[in-house]
Amino acid sequence: MEPLDKASRAMKKAYAPYSEFQVGCVVVGNSGQEYIGCNIENASYGATICAERIAIGQAIAHGEKKISKIYLINSSKMPVTPCGVCLQVMSEFGKDFEITSASKDQKIVREMHFKDLFPIAFDKKSLPKKTR
Ligand code: THU
Repeated sequence: MEPLDKASRAMKKAYAPYSEFQVGCVVVGNSGQEYIGCNIENASYGATICAERIAIGQAIAHGEKKISKIYLINSSKMPVTPCGVCLQVMSEFGKDFEITSASKDQKIVREMHFKDLFPIAFDKKSLPKKTR
């Protein structure tokens, strides 16, 4: 199955009763394997987790060390860019990858490079050595 179709399947599983905005994500790990995620909302709104972080968690839990590509789809007419929290989480696992983001019907597809969205990430290089 095409990655955007896979992301779309995951999007339909989103738990998003508050925003009614569904997002699906496929993270491709360094091995080439694909991992899916959807957004999961919570009555305590701040506990909501984006589709991207769910998919990244799946990838890491399966032993991936790096992100090599991300596909995104959402339930609106326009592609989305990942939120700042997700960009920060992504930056932990690679900075040189493309993000493909599609509208619900995949009629509008936008290609972005991670570095253009998040050029100077805060990362472990900023931390004192013994805490890295
Ligand atoms: N959301 C994502 O899952 N990914 C994004 O890139 C943007 C926002 C979710 C979080 C929340 O459940 C809903 O979309 C509205 O913000």
